[in-house]
This record gives sequence, structure tokens and C-alpha cells, in this order.
Amino acid sequence: MNQDQKNNMSSLSLFSSKSSNLSGEIIIPGDKSISHRCVILSSLAIGESKITGLLNSSDVYCTINCMKSLGSSIDFNSYNECIINGIGIGSLKEAERPIDFGNSGTAARLILGLVSTYPIETIFIGDESLSQRPMKRVTEPLVDFGANFNLRNSEFLPIKVKGAELPIPITHEMKVASAQVKSAIMLAGLNTPGTTTIIEKEKTRDHTETLFKYYGYEINVEKKDGKNFISFEGQKVLNPVNIKIPGDPSSAAYPLVAGLICKNSNIKIKSVLSNSTRNGIYKCLDEMGANIRYSNKKSEAGEITYDLEVSSSILNPIDVPAKRAPSMIDDYPVLAIAASMANGTSIFRGLSELKVKESDRLLGIYHILSKNGIDASIDDDNLIIKGNTEGPKGGAFIETKLDHRIAMSSIILGMVSDKPIRVDDTETIKTSFPDFIELMKKLGAKLSA
Ligand code: S3P
Repeated sequence: MNQDQKNNMSSLSLFSSKSSNLSGEIIIPGDKSISHRCVILSSLAIGESKITGLLNSSDVYCTINCMKSLGSSIDFNSYNECIINGIGIGSLKEAERPIDFGNSGTAARLILGLVSTYPIETIFIGDESLSQRPMKRVTEPLVDFGANFNLRNSEFLPIKVKGAELPIPITHEMKVASAQVKSAIMLAGLNTPGTTTIIEKEKTRDHTETLFKYYGYEINVEKKDGKNFISFEGQKVLNPVNIKIPGDPSSAAYPLVAGLICKNSNIKIKSVLSNSTRNGIYKCLDEMGANIRYSNKKSEAGEITYDLEVSSSILNPIDVPAKRAPSMIDDYPVLAIAASMANGTSIFRGLSELKVKESDRLLGIYHILSKNGIDASIDDDNLIIKGNTEGPKGGAFIETKLDHRIAMSSIILGMVSDKPIRVDDTETIKTSFPDFIELMKKLGAKLSA
């Protein structure tokens, strides 16, 4: 570690050391995507909604604080259920101050869409990572509703939004496969008279569509000529709901991969969301020969959940096709850790979208692997990983660059490495999985300050 790295190290840095015999049963926190959307839609419903299992993370708090500043009333009862008194579509008020979206791309992008069809002015700010992420992909289609945006360098936060006085509905064919952009347009369409239509070439996570239906809002989703058409009429009514959020499959993937690659392990994970627009990593792990059993199928929030049981497995390498990316876009870092323990060379194709996540994740994954002695390379938008079932040398110091998934993946890799891996900052993990370290320790992971 050089002097600069020492100076940058927060008191929340952590060593992750070789671990085995992981065991136990855990409950994964609520799905992040569904949590954001439930807070927004409950705020727009007329009446009181109760949300059980809302993800208690700093990203979701950004959405809660934002919706409060736009006029919604949000509290937690003594059972830690989130109670929201919705004010109805069309009733948002202007926030008194700039709204801080912290690290949350989902909150910022969805709410850019939401406010764009209200006659209010809003200023969006965020942390260092969020302020470097592209926003024009969202604002460009929203301009067609009649909104006006002033972006730093025409691309980044801070952004000043002047919402449309008289929004006009749009038909938009998606240019990037992004559920955030799609959902921003859908939220804009809610306060727009007439029919908003979105056409997707590649289907992305469909929680907004599912939740519209769950809140009693009529929406039409159909496949035509190989494309996904989503359309609905604006300015109707969302009904309040009682809803339980399923466990986040992207968070579950961390203990799951740990259970696969650490020796003599067996872990049970309760109530994990199963949705074909999110299941890419599970498909990959199944194809790699992972020992994962699915049981206790249930229906929650209009979605399906399963309990998972995972045990240590010999993993085969995998060639992941580019077309699978939308269904596993957040899960490449942890899949890369699994691939580094496979008995052969894996290739992940078509990873360009990873470059615009909380950090440049393609580079971030490459650094985690190569700094710990794993033979990895980037070829254009593809990542090649030479697996070694013995586990890597380890010993590296990883700078997480405000990226929770880079932090958690490094910690999982440390659990199979000869020498401990040190991550500079675990604080960032609070954005999606606040109990991650406690939960991993409970399973038997050797993590220390
Ligand atoms: C999300 C969509 C994805 C994902 C993000 C959550 C969502 O982003 O990476 O963590 O909740 O809609 P993109 O829409 O940029 O692919």
C-alpha cells in the first residue's frame, strides 16, 4: 500500500480472509429496484399504503427524502413498516431546496422523469460517483414531454429541471437497454394526458410495469415483431397498497457465490425474487454446474420468490452472451469472482454498460482480479477470466471508488484467497446491503477491521 492509499483509507476499511464451512439461514433485504418504485408509486396513490420489507439502505432513503420534499408523507411504524400517505398523481409541490440523490442513479433517474411533467423547478445534486454518470440518456426523451433541463457539461448532475406546464404524451423507442430510462418515461407519462408508449428492443427489468398493475393502474404490455410495447393513459388513479418487498436477487448473489466457492459450505437464503428480467446470473451459475436448489415458491408484490439452498460446488467456465446483459447488469462483479474459481477460461461479452455504473465496473472487476493474481484481460467490451480452482494469491488493497458491488465482490474474493484482501471503504455497501458484513460474519466469513 502506498502513502496515498494509506491517507485515503477510511476507518471502515476491512480485511477479508480465507473462510470455509459457511453455514446458516439468512434473510436477504428487500429488492432495491422494487423499493424505490414502491416509495414513488405509494406517494402518488390516493390514500395510505403500507410497505413491509422496504430496503433500509441509503439509496432508498434518497428516494424517501426526495418524495417527502415533493409533498408526500412517509413514516415508519413500530414494526418498521413504511407508511406512506399518497397525495395523488398531479399533486407534487416544488421542493424548497436542491434534492440530494447521494450515490443513487436509480433514484435520480426515476425522479427526473417524475418531476418532468409537473410545472415545478427542481435542482438535482449527487455524490462524486453519481455526478460522473451520464444523464442525457434520461433527459433527452423527457424533453419531448415539454420539460426543460440544464445539465452540467450537457451530461451530468447538478441538473436544473423545469417541468412541463402542459405535458404532451410521447412514443419513444429505447436507444439503450435501461430500466431506469424506461421507468423515468413511465413516471413522466403518469401526469400526462393521453397515451405514452415505450418500445424496447431488449426487454429490461419490468418491475415498474408489474407495480403499475399492483397499484390498480391499467397498462398494456405486448410483444410485436420481437419488440416489447408498453403503453398506458396518463392522469388516472393509483390505488394504495399493502405490499411486501421480495428479497433482492442481486444482493443474494454475494452470499450465494460465497457458499459455492468456499469449501464445505451450505447456506439457505429465504424469499429471493425470481424474475426472468433479473435472473441472468442464476442462469449462468446453473450452467456452470452450481449446486443451487430452489424451493417454497411464493407470490409477493406481483412477483415470484423462492428459498434457495446452495452448497460448495466445482464450477465450469462459461461464455456469457451479450444479450443476457440486461438481466444481470448489476451481477457481473460477483459472477467474475465465481468464474475466477472455475476450472477453465470464461468470457463475459458485451459489457459496455458496465463502464457507466457507480464506477467503471469493467475496469473495477479487472483490477480486483488482476491485482489478486488472477489471469484476466479486457478485449474491447469483453472480459476474459482464467479460472483456478485452487483460488488466487490475494493480498491486494482494493480501492472501491464509491462502488458497493466492487466492495462486496472484493470481500467475497478474499474468502478464497491465500492472503487476505483489504478493501479501503465498506461504508459504500450501505447503499444497497447495509447488513452485508454482519450477515457474512454470521455465516462464518472471516472479516476483520
Ligand atoms: C435499475 C436498473 C439498472 C441497474 C440499477 C437498478 C433499476 O440500471 O443497474 O442498479 O432499478 O431500474 P440501468 O437502467 O442503467 O441499466
